[in-house]
Amino acid sequence: MRVLGICGSHRDESRSGVHQLVRTVLENTGCDYDLVSLKGKRILGCTACLGCAHDNVCRVQDDMTPLRQLIVDADAFVIGAPNYYSTLNASTHAFLERWYQFRHREGDTLWGKLAVSVGVGGTSGRPVVDDMDKFFLYNFVEPVAKVDGQGAASCFSCGYGETCKVGIPAMLFGPGARITEDMIPNVGKQPALLGTAVAAGKQLGERLRNGHDRQAVAQAMQARLMAMFMESV
Ligand SMILES: Cc1cc2nc3c(=O)[nH]c(=O)nc-3n(C[C@H](O)[C@H](O)[C@H](O)COP(=O)(O)O)c2cc1C
Repeated sequence: MRVLGICGSHRDESRSGVHQLVRTVLENTGCDYDLVSLKGKRILGCTACLGCAHDNVCRVQDDMTPLRQLIVDADAFVIGAPNYYSTLNASTHAFLERWYQFRHREGDTLWGKLAVSVGVGGTSGRPVVDDMDKFFLYNFVEPVAKVDGQGAASCFSCGYGETCKVGIPAMLFGPGARITEDMIPNVGKQPALLGTAVAAGKQLGERLRNGHDRQAVAQAMQARLMAMFMESV
């Protein structure tokens, strides 16, 4: 069993809460895994050229091209993104939009696979995991667990955090608050959040080892997607 982990943050590994949580989930699956960072990668959103309609292979040549095979080979996904404007950041959105290449005709490449979504925000990662789960659903991938929390927003280290009127420190602690190390919500000092990531990894690993029935999962996800459609029309 192989799991593909994606970190959609462009921040350095050592600073990225998303990276830390995605890695923690992966390490606890007990499976072989790849962890790919989108940092520095240029991945366009779907251009709706429909070049993929006949064979489920995207025609756009960019840094997504070599990732396609990793996606195909993976039994499950752990995908993490930072919260930008109360949704997933553009790079992760673009990466997931390109999964459109798998959504044609007999395109059952992703059907019935499993996933864990990870979201980190300066205040909350919740909107990220909720939005990301819809991408999974459209591809009949089951989101088995969500890991979302608060991370160390770059506003704490940009140099203007104490005077900025619109940054996260002002939002959380009021205008002019002095920044001290203990008020910075690094993911690494939140045992409950790390525990959620550990549990999500274990849950994913167990589901994979218990020989999950991909067809049954795909059918259940299809039903869930239809229910979502019916609510929105
Ligand atoms: C362009 C931009 C927009 C952001 N918008 C939000 C937001 O709407 N809500 C929020 O909670 N955090 C927001 N943040 C803060 C990030 O989500 C936060 O820094 C998070 O820790 C990033 O995760 P990372 O360290 O793994 O990159 C924003 C950051 C940037 C750069």
